[in-house]
Amino acid sequence: MFLGLDLGTSGLKGVVISGAGDVLAQASCSLTVQSPKATWSEQSPEEWWLALVDVCQQLRNVCDFSAIEALGFSGQMHGATLLNRAGEVLRPCILWNDGRSKSQCESLMRRYPELLTLSGNLVMPGFTAPKIAWVKEHEPDIFAQLAKVLLPKDYMVFRMTGAFATDCSDAAGTLWLNPETRMWDEQLLAMCDLTVAHMPRVFEGHEIVGHVSKSVAVALGLGEIPVVAGAGDNAAGAVGMGVTEPGQGFVSLGTSGVYFSVSQVHNANPENTVHAFCHALPNRWHQMGVTLSAANSLTWFANTVNMTVPDLMDELERSGVTKTRVVFLPYLNGERTPINDPFASGQFFGVMNNTTRAEMCLAVLEGVAFSMLDCQSALSSAGSDVSELSLIGGGARSAIWRQIMANVLNKTLIYRDGGDVGPGLGAARLALLGKREREGGAIEALIKDHCTLPSVLASHAPDTALQDYYRSKYQIYGALYKQTSLMSE
Ligand code: XUL
Repeated sequence: MFLGLDLGTSGLKGVVISGAGDVLAQASCSLTVQSPKATWSEQSPEEWWLALVDVCQQLRNVCDFSAIEALGFSGQMHGATLLNRAGEVLRPCILWNDGRSKSQCESLMRRYPELLTLSGNLVMPGFTAPKIAWVKEHEPDIFAQLAKVLLPKDYMVFRMTGAFATDCSDAAGTLWLNPETRMWDEQLLAMCDLTVAHMPRVFEGHEIVGHVSKSVAVALGLGEIPVVAGAGDNAAGAVGMGVTEPGQGFVSLGTSGVYFSVSQVHNANPENTVHAFCHALPNRWHQMGVTLSAANSLTWFANTVNMTVPDLMDELERSGVTKTRVVFLPYLNGERTPINDPFASGQFFGVMNNTTRAEMCLAVLEGVAFSMLDCQSALSSAGSDVSELSLIGGGARSAIWRQIMANVLNKTLIYRDGGDVGPGLGAARLALLGKREREGGAIEALIKDHCTLPSVLASHAPDTALQDYYRSKYQIYGALYKQTSLMSE
């Protein structure tokens, strides 16, 4: 058996798979996000650890942990976890959806225009590099003590094994990696007054980076088993869903929304806010468009109207509402693709005296779909051509939302078994690959055998009758941001 642990933003999930790759057990524990100021988003690394202990306890109740051969992590990307020389956490982790570093982004781009070509990406708030520039400027005492910068999942690997390690899919999202060579770039690090010594060692996602330490093994009921480098949650989701070759892609409806496509080479297109990173499997890269508030928009709306998401979705289904004049902009945490504006804000437009809650819910689902259509356009202008598109993430559990996505993107979308736990499954698959490679397997053959497409649960073809309706709403959606963005800062 193999264990995948996915450190998300709203929760930590654990997935146990068999040696044949079947999902045997799952568990999760929710996490909170602190937002002490507008545009800020932080989490306590200690809370991650407590969630991990809780998830392992739940899994131990249903499967034999002593039979787990290896484990791997998937993690929310870009977060800055800062450690001192003693390995202690210096401040709460600044997360991927934190927008505080806008002026540091502008200053880095102004001072170092070569950053664009060296990293292959636009400097956007949320990426790790501008966060460190913010810490240096606003918390110089913390910066002076900084010994290591770790991404969220890499902090968990450190707690498990004592090793400072990362993988190239996640490391690319710091903006300090050269995505072509898949190694740290000293010039990029120097732009933030850092050196390679501040960084963990870079591995491929399936490579073994260490073993679970004795004390952690005893506490969690595991053996002192190998731990692989793992992957950023999007690349891990791709591994879980068998999205490993050019032409394949997925749309993820997690806290964030992601449009992901695999490429054979590093295909940079920073002008269109396309994220061009390494894949978690060797000799592969990927492009992404990212919207910062996907399932988070729905959770926010449910909380605001004092309902649960399942109750809200039931109400929408029972109402039979399929069209509304209400338009929603999902910019609750600002936005990356395509507008790169941390001060963009959410909006409901077109609300009237007779507007129902079901209509507003529908508008939220459509608004997130429009933001994914923006990502699709950004990726296709960057030369990305996805012929096979899967849907993953917690939000993809909703058949209504999946259909709206297919309608708005005007593409057939496939929902596969395990789509709701894609990143955790991918992390478990990476652990399996790492262990089997160590036993003498060849990595490409292992990828072919184990990173397969899970079985199809549902297929959603676009509804042609609704195309005019969506087209005209998408125009209003785009115009609304343009007309109101001046007041957002
Ligand atoms: C990707 C991104 C998000 C996080 C969410 O660039 O910021 O998808 O990885 O966990």
